[in-house]
Amino acid sequence: MSGDAATARACANIALVKYWGKRDAARNLPAAGSLSLTLDALTTVTTVRFDPALPADRMRLGGEVAAPEVLARTRAFLDRVRALAGITTPASVESHNHFPTASGLASSASGFAALALAASRAAGLDLDDAALSRLAREGSGSAARSIHGGFVRMDAGVRDDGLDAYAHPVAAPALAARVRMIVAEVGGGAPKTHGSRDAMEHCARTSPLYDGWLAVVPRDLAAAEAAIAAGDLEALGELTEGSALAMHAAAIASRPTVLYWQPATLAALAQVRALRAAGRAAWATMDAGPHVKVLSDERDADAVARAMAGTEGVTAVTIARAGGPAELLPRTAP
Ligand code: DP6
Repeated sequence: MSGDAATARACANIALVKYWGKRDAARNLPAAGSLSLTLDALTTVTTVRFDPALPADRMRLGGEVAAPEVLARTRAFLDRVRALAGITTPASVESHNHFPTASGLASSASGFAALALAASRAAGLDLDDAALSRLAREGSGSAARSIHGGFVRMDAGVRDDGLDAYAHPVAAPALAARVRMIVAEVGGGAPKTHGSRDAMEHCARTSPLYDGWLAVVPRDLAAAEAAIAAGDLEALGELTEGSALAMHAAAIASRPTVLYWQPATLAALAQVRALRAAGRAAWATMDAGPHVKVLSDERDADAVARAMAGTEGVTAVTIARAGGPAELLPRTAP
């Protein structure tokens, strides 16, 4: 190996129609499709260098030596890249999350998307978008979507080898230009109680509502794509809030429960309903944590952000726009 480094940047994404459950855990194949918006305000920049002089893989995250469980998941991912490239060389990985605050907001989507692009390129591979998305998916299902910018649809696929399980961009330039996502952090970004990977598996095994959740996803996906094609933010917003609530309903019904919400989450949800009643474009979504993200548009984003910031228990608010695809950066970064 030459020891060449590659640096890539990827944006986080927030699912509008959620991914929650797998059809194959080993290959990390989702049980259903999903649909997301890539966000410009939350990015990860990752540099990978394969270096024969290293005794083993090593990783720094935000300038610190990565925790053992982070290194273990990264190493398993690098093993897939090495297998694809036909090499066995250890790698050094340097990753920085550029998130507005040090919150518990999910970084695995931007993290594995940036790692997939940087590691594959540093290993001498030149993967097309489909292959890159499949590779990112093996790190984290939501990361498959962060390969693309704007609105993105992830296909669950039907093949056992997962070749058809990757993400596609959903072209909607006008809607992508005016859409906004207001990220309202709750509880100071406290570490999440259940990681999404374990929680969705537990939900699939124990929740009496899991089958109902899975049944609704294809309908929501088709309706969300139609709403995007029509530029109908209101229809997309209603589907977004409905998908998040259905996912959380299934999670909450798990035995024992997977309950991410804090009192301020409910206060934020009520605020979103009040904004809507007052005529604002505002629809809520929540992931594997207490934070509330509000789908809105350029006209109402400032008013929505102000109202969210004034909600009891909301500790930080960021307005994000649609972000671009994962991309390689010049060698000097990060
Ligand atoms: C609630 O992508 O983190 O954010 O594939 O096991 O790594 P793994 O799961 P992950 O799950 C994301 C769950 C979610 C919804 C979503 O992003 O669609």
